[in-house]
Amino acid sequence: MRGSGWSLRRRLTLTLIGGAAVLAILFYLVVRTYAQGIAQQSQDRILEASVTSLMDAAVVRGGQIELDLPYAAFSMLDTAADDRVFYAIHQGDVLLSGYEGLSSGPFAPMGEPRFATRGFAGGDVRVATLTHSLPASPRPVLLTVSVAQTRDSLSGTLLTISINAAVFGAVFFLLAAGMALWTSASTLRPLGQIAASVARRGPSDLRPVTRSVPTELSPLVTSFNALMTRLSHSLTQSETFIAEAAHRVRTPLATVRSHAEVTLMRVDKDENRQALRSMIRAIDESSRAAGQLLDHAMVTFRGDQLDKQDVDLVSICSDIVDRLTPVAEMMDLDLTISSDGPVPVQADPILVQNAVRNLVDNALKYSSAESVVHIHVSAQPGPSITVTDQGIGFPKDQIELLSQRFQRGDNARDTVGSGLGLTIAKDVAEAHGGRLELKNLEAGGACAVLYF
Ligand SMILES: Nc1ncnc2c1ncn2[C@@H]1O[C@H](COP(=O)(O)OP(=O)(O)OP(=O)(O)O)[C@@H](O)[C@H]1O
Ligand SMILES: [Mg+2]
Repeated sequence: MRGSGWSLRRRLTLTLIGGAAVLAILFYLVVRTYAQGIAQQSQDRILEASVTSLMDAAVVRGGQIELDLPYAAFSMLDTAADDRVFYAIHQGDVLLSGYEGLSSGPFAPMGEPRFATRGFAGGDVRVATLTHSLPASPRPVLLTVSVAQTRDSLSGTLLTISINAAVFGAVFFLLAAGMALWTSASTLRPLGQIAASVARRGPSDLRPVTRSVPTELSPLVTSFNALMTRLSHSLTQSETFIAEAAHRVRTPLATVRSHAEVTLMRVDKDENRQALRSMIRAIDESSRAAGQLLDHAMVTFRGDQLDKQDVDLVSICSDIVDRLTPVAEMMDLDLTISSDGPVPVQADPILVQNAVRNLVDNALKYSSAESVVHIHVSAQPGPSITVTDQGIGFPKDQIELLSQRFQRGDNARDTVGSGLGLTIAKDVAEAHGGRLELKNLEAGGACAVLYF
């Protein structure tokens, strides 16, 4: 299966962490803006009070403005950061007292002061300006009072608030990120549990998944279960098919063969006898091929879902010796077995039998009369079955290829066979996590070892 790009877990975690980061930044910005507003408001209140008390101190006498600057109007502006305070009092456009260039007035007279932030005396100041029209004769006097204060204390307060907001934001983010990791892990846990429970199953375990799953996963599990049911059905079908097919192909071939043999005995003409012999050989080849093909199919099929049992390799091999001894005797061969005691393994006995039968069959087929075919079963270093004979051995330059499908050696020209025996043995060994080793003995003869 293709490792399909993004993992769900990573996607979920990143989305949650990304969301938390956006929220943390938003929190920081909102708190900062809000704090800035409040701090500015409180500075403006004091400036307003100061400017109003200065305005209240102004009196018009005989058309002239008299101003006794009240100390309180400035002392209320004292701050921890020792902010500097400036003022300017204008009558119309004329500066009566204070700093030139501070006020941007005069404005149209109104009850409320105006506020502005501007550069003054080499820094930023907040200026409150109030313009009043004072009654006097012959005409009213326009008085503009401005009070300004630097913003050091305000900036300090803002900095403190910003740092606190940033710390809160970061803590919130860390908590949210931790929760995101936890949430994504716990959300995806059921998925992992299903995968683990399916992975733990034996190869032939095609039961449906019955554990309760989250609603979102149930369509997946339902289709998985349906697939399992179909699979198990078709596996059963193909198993019966293999057995049935073997039977159907071999039986008529055997009949044809016996007819051909009977006919061979009745025919005298040399060319007819020759033709019949070729026919019998072809029938033998077909029958062997059919049998081996079906065995190979069976091995492939069972190899995919091993039916492992506790078996003793020695007793499996002894059975085969018992069964093949008559064949060996007919060929004038001695079939012997030895072992260092029972060799218990976890294996599919039908497959092991098939593999050993093919190795012994080869040893009998390819060795010369009056020799010995020997099976040795050993538990050390690992479980293994060695089949040796005293024949000509494997063709040296082909030894690597012989266990490939349909590969036959040059020494097999006169022998009936399909080139599948060693493939079967190798597949069985590999299905059990082992291997098949082929070599020639120094004393002559072939040696095939099945390791488990
Ligand atoms: N014991 C042996 N001694 C010498 N050559 C062997 C031996 N066993 C196998 N071979 C060689 O290896 C080849 C492959 O063996 P394999 O069993 O796969 O096929 P086969 O015996 O020709 O056909 P079948 O599928 O009917 O067994 C044989 O054709 C033969 O050349
Ligand atoms: Mg063979």
